[in-house]
Amino acid sequence: MLSRLSSVTDIPITMNVATTPVLSPADIVLAYHARTKHTLKRYAAGPETLDWDTQPNPFREFAGCARTDLELGADRVATSFAEARTPGSVGPVALSIESVGKLLELSLGLSAWKEYGPDRWALRCNPSSGNLHPTEAYILSRNVPGIVDGLHHYLSRDHVLELRCRCNNRSEAPARLWIGLSSVQWREAWKYGERAFRYCQLDVGHALGALRYAAGALGWRASLVEDLESAALAARMGLDRADAFSGVEAEDPELLIAVEAGPSTTTAAERGVPGVGESDSHQWAGRANLLDPHPLYRWPVIEQVSQATRGRGTGQSSDSPNYPPLQQRSEARAVEIILGRRSAQRFDSKFKMSRDIFYRILDSLLDRPNAPWDVWNFAPRLHPIFFVHRVEGLEPGVYALPRHPAAAHALREQLRGDFEWETPENTPPQLPFVRLLRTDCRIVARTMNCHQAIASDSCFALSMLSEFEPVVRANTWRYRQLHWEAGLLGHVLYLEAEAEGLRGTGIGCYFDDALHEILGITNTQFQALYHFTVGRPLTDDRISTLPAYPGRRMQVPRETPT
Ligand SMILES: Cc1cc2nc3c(=O)[nH]c(=O)nc-3n(C[C@H](O)[C@H](O)[C@H](O)COP(=O)(O)O)c2cc1C
Repeated sequence: MLSRLSSVTDIPITMNVATTPVLSPADIVLAYHARTKHTLKRYAAGPETLDWDTQPNPFREFAGCARTDLELGADRVATSFAEARTPGSVGPVALSIESVGKLLELSLGLSAWKEYGPDRWALRCNPSSGNLHPTEAYILSRNVPGIVDGLHHYLSRDHVLELRCRCNNRSEAPARLWIGLSSVQWREAWKYGERAFRYCQLDVGHALGALRYAAGALGWRASLVEDLESAALAARMGLDRADAFSGVEAEDPELLIAVEAGPSTTTAAERGVPGVGESDSHQWAGRANLLDPHPLYRWPVIEQVSQATRGRGTGQSSDSPNYPPLQQRSEARAVEIILGRRSAQRFDSKFKMSRDIFYRILDSLLDRPNAPWDVWNFAPRLHPIFFVHRVEGLEPGVYALPRHPAAAHALREQLRGDFEWETPENTPPQLPFVRLLRTDCRIVARTMNCHQAIASDSCFALSMLSEFEPVVRANTWRYRQLHWEAGLLGHVLYLEAEAEGLRGTGIGCYFDDALHEILGITNTQFQALYHFTVGRPLTDDRISTLPAYPGRRMQVPRETPT
């Protein structure tokens, strides 16, 4: 069958291979992005009906693996939230099975079970679009006391490690730990159809942020391993093993994080990621479970964009301005903030937040050598546009925070010509915060965000504008990484809002081009990749909160009072 590409927004899924025009990976990615935009007239392609009883299993597990129980010890971590995000402010805890248990409990572990009528669902320290949790985690350990050397899968439901590959090579190298993240795309695609790939990437960004803050609470650092290409990454996580995954949902390799638990004095050889399964002495075990026995739809563009964005990227030391250190204002323990983080489902539409809190939250979004911005060396490419509704002393309107000086210039060229670009009075000197338009933007914010009331009842909503087409054309892997940056921004907002006694909610559902039009964007130099909203939450007392790991330890999550 021969079909013609009507525009770059069509990906030819059904064409005869011999007659298919050869699209570059960048064309595939840009076409995917365009066709997965929600518009005011139609949502991106997705399932027509949803039966929540058929939701894919949110927990992957491997049958036939030896399991190691991890301790639940996070409540003994005294580090304050301010210290957790400031490298060097607390001494590093030694790497051991106990401390690795705390790292995972505070990053990807469950934070509570919720119950409403007959429904029961788990929440985790990392948020996820639709609470579908496509992100899986793998631990690579070497000489960590109490943990077998090799590859383990982390099963958050039980807080255990499942030993996928035992590596018997003895080595005198210092103890080290790496954490690999992958996505089970079907979990998101089940509900969101074609747009799901974007949500998986945003969730990876959140998981990365969650790991970086949890590492900070233990006095550790974490950084992205840059020199691993996707296939090598899949091999390190055992995702390419047909024996373990035949007939079940695949996992897409995303990234590998090196956890730095000691001083950064080890040699490059010692830092090298161990190969897994490369020697006869490496023993594999385990078969992945089937997550959805009756999938009703297929979304082939997800596999296409996944293929087109495989690869790797290398950052360069960022030339960001030397911002003054973040204010150390919150005395709260990191554990309380991390385990207490929730998405607000409704906001108090009368509440006005103070300007000091607003500016402190903004300050934490700037690229400093702090958690989580020190996970990589990529210069910031995402720049929030704020829709301010209720901040004391700040006129309602549209504002921008270009997170890199060069971006301010580029944004000015691309956004509407009649924007003000004025610095509001009393803006802290380090904040590149500018007013674009004085206006009541509540209705616009609500409409743009798929008519969600959280966008207008909050104190402010924001859209993360990404430097887009030139970055993606230069390296399509960066399509993923730009979403990770958006997820990181979202994670900072979640935790900083909690630290201020407020709450945030990520927004993946928004009308892309309608938003672009309002801002005057007419091309793909910049695109909105993620939205967010912050305010004072109203909690729903009908929903009960139960401990994350009943019977293993009492854990009382902090809830913000209504
Ligand atoms: C990428 C992403 C997109 C999201 N989009 C929305 C959204 O459009 N509307 C909404 O109410 N919540 C949204 N959320 C919030 C999730 O529904 C929430 O994280 C999930 O239900 C888990 O709850 P928790 O954050 O309290 O742990 C989003 C979260 C993420 C991470």
